[in-house]
Amino acid sequence: MDKDQDQEVQCAECVKQKHIQNLQQKQQRKNDQIPFEENNYTHNIRKGDERLLDRRAFMKTMVGAAGVFAVSTLPWGALAVKGLAGGGHQDDPPLRITDIADLPVGEAAKFAYPGKHDSALLIRLSENEYKAYQNACTHLKCPVFWSKEKDELVCPCHHGAFDARTGKPTAGPPQRPLPEVLLRQEGGAVYATGVKHYET
Ligand code: FES
Repeated sequence: MDKDQDQEVQCAECVKQKHIQNLQQKQQRKNDQIPFEENNYTHNIRKGDERLLDRRAFMKTMVGAAGVFAVSTLPWGALAVKGLAGGGHQDDPPLRITDIADLPVGEAAKFAYPGKHDSALLIRLSENEYKAYQNACTHLKCPVFWSKEKDELVCPCHHGAFDARTGKPTAGPPQRPLPEVLLRQEGGAVYATGVKHYET
């Protein structure tokens, strides 16, 4: 090999080395640019921002949930407050229960008020004393009946009993009074005019 040929081989080797060097530098730059995997889309979120985003999202969720809860419970809460504030009276239309002449002292008459499934009892306690209650037992809803002999309202299911003058439980498991039906006498008849729920 003469001198010219030798120089030519050395130059080809130089070009090859240079090319390899360039490739290595390129790869190095690429590695320095994104120290994460290419498919990791969170690499542009800073840690501080991440925490802020988490807190903000959490607060938004909580506020939303509280809003939904408030809206969904509002009508029932309002009804409960109205019932308690007004002593539980309802604006139900009056209902003629019976003529006074048809109900002897010491007897009871069955009726439904205010709805046709709201079973109730009217009791004539004395010549001019009437009391009426919805008669679903406040324990487990068995129908309560009037016992003239015992002078009280009796529940046959678990030996519950209620005072006929107040509706309050006097025996057995019931803890709450019977809802009282408000009455009015007019033109020789007794009318139901509303329902007074128990007060604690
Ligand atoms: S249902 Fe009336 S005492 Fe139990």
